[in-house]
Amino acid sequence: MRAYVLDHYGGPEGARLMDVPTPQPRPRDILVEVRAAGLNPVDFKFRQGKLRAIQRPKLPLVLGNELAGEVIAIGGDVKRFRVGDRVFARVAKDRAGAFAEQACVDEDHAAHMPQGLDYATAAAVPLAGLTALQALRDELYVKPGQRVFISGGAGGVGTFAIQIAKWLGAHVTTTASKRGEALVRSLGCDEVIDYTAEDISRAGGGFDAGFDLIGGRTLEQMFDIMKPGTGIVSVAALPEPQTAIKDLGGRRILAALFWIISYGIRSRARRAGIGYRYLFMHPSGRDLAALAELIEQGKLKVIVDKAYPFASISEALAYVESGRAKGKVVVTMG
Ligand SMILES: NC(=O)c1ccc[n+]([C@@H]2O[C@H](COP(=O)([O-])OP(=O)(O)OC[C@H]3O[C@@H](n4cnc5c(N)ncnc54)[C@H](OP(=O)(O)O)[C@@H]3O)[C@@H](O)[C@H]2O)c1
Repeated sequence: MRAYVLDHYGGPEGARLMDVPTPQPRPRDILVEVRAAGLNPVDFKFRQGKLRAIQRPKLPLVLGNELAGEVIAIGGDVKRFRVGDRVFARVAKDRAGAFAEQACVDEDHAAHMPQGLDYATAAAVPLAGLTALQALRDELYVKPGQRVFISGGAGGVGTFAIQIAKWLGAHVTTTASKRGEALVRSLGCDEVIDYTAEDISRAGGGFDAGFDLIGGRTLEQMFDIMKPGTGIVSVAALPEPQTAIKDLGGRRILAALFWIISYGIRSRARRAGIGYRYLFMHPSGRDLAALAELIEQGKLKVIVDKAYPFASISEALAYVESGRAKGKVVVTMG
């Protein structure tokens, strides 16, 4: 089968399309004929070797973290899926493999695709949609009437986050350039700060929850607009000890390393009286089924910026790497 394989860490030349053997399902796996796969910043960060402190899989490795397709075989212990089912999934972090014509997925990480959605649109949901749901619902506990600040609302995660925060009943403010403003407003965002022209202090103060998709100076400024006693969850800044304990299996050495690298940001948070948590989202078929329900009910729109043929996956990844995508980028397997 054709697959997009990482040969060595570094620039775009480190990965290429090539023929590899079809993966063999384990007892709890479904084997999926992949019809479309979603791209994410983690794909180029992984290719660059930026995740090596956390994951060190043997190379060569088939890249890709999310997919939609049809089940063509099941392992002996699979309970929830049958051959012929249309599924979507965020695959296990230590397996990847979604940028391929076929991929194995643990059944706990997959869900049935929302009725009426095509494969390309479904493939855009898992990673970014789960990240937004897990941050806003499970970490920030967003409640009706709260004011939520989301940095970077026009991208893959942001377009889901705005809608999920609205669904949870919040008043939502985000940052977007003029290029993304119409999109974030169309998703229900109440207030938009043009980050290219204005400081986020223009949003006023008194926010109840902050979801950071940008990091750096943007995150620093967010500490000034939050109510004391509230919290910020970032998926783009620096991991802290809880990241290792809650999201990465309680690895103590990693927790110590994260304690050191996040010292500055945690001190900043403490001075402001605000909680700081860096989240690594986790694959979850159950959460994905909840997103599927929201999509079927018309409460969650999936924004696909561009769909490329699988043969042009390097170009698709370069577009994601440009940092300008509006919503999600996918490849289709034809
Ligand atoms: N830890 C986790 O589990 C996890 C999960 C998912 C994502 N992430 C991380 O979260 C971040 C966001 O992911 P994503 O998929 O949403 O990225 P993305 O789709 O590539 O985001 C692109 C969007 O960000 C906007 N943007 C760029 N710089 C901005 C700024 N300074 N302020 C506001 N908006 C800005 C761009 O708008 P303009 O073109 O208009 O500037 C563009 O529309 C990435 O760093 C990713 O690695 C982490």
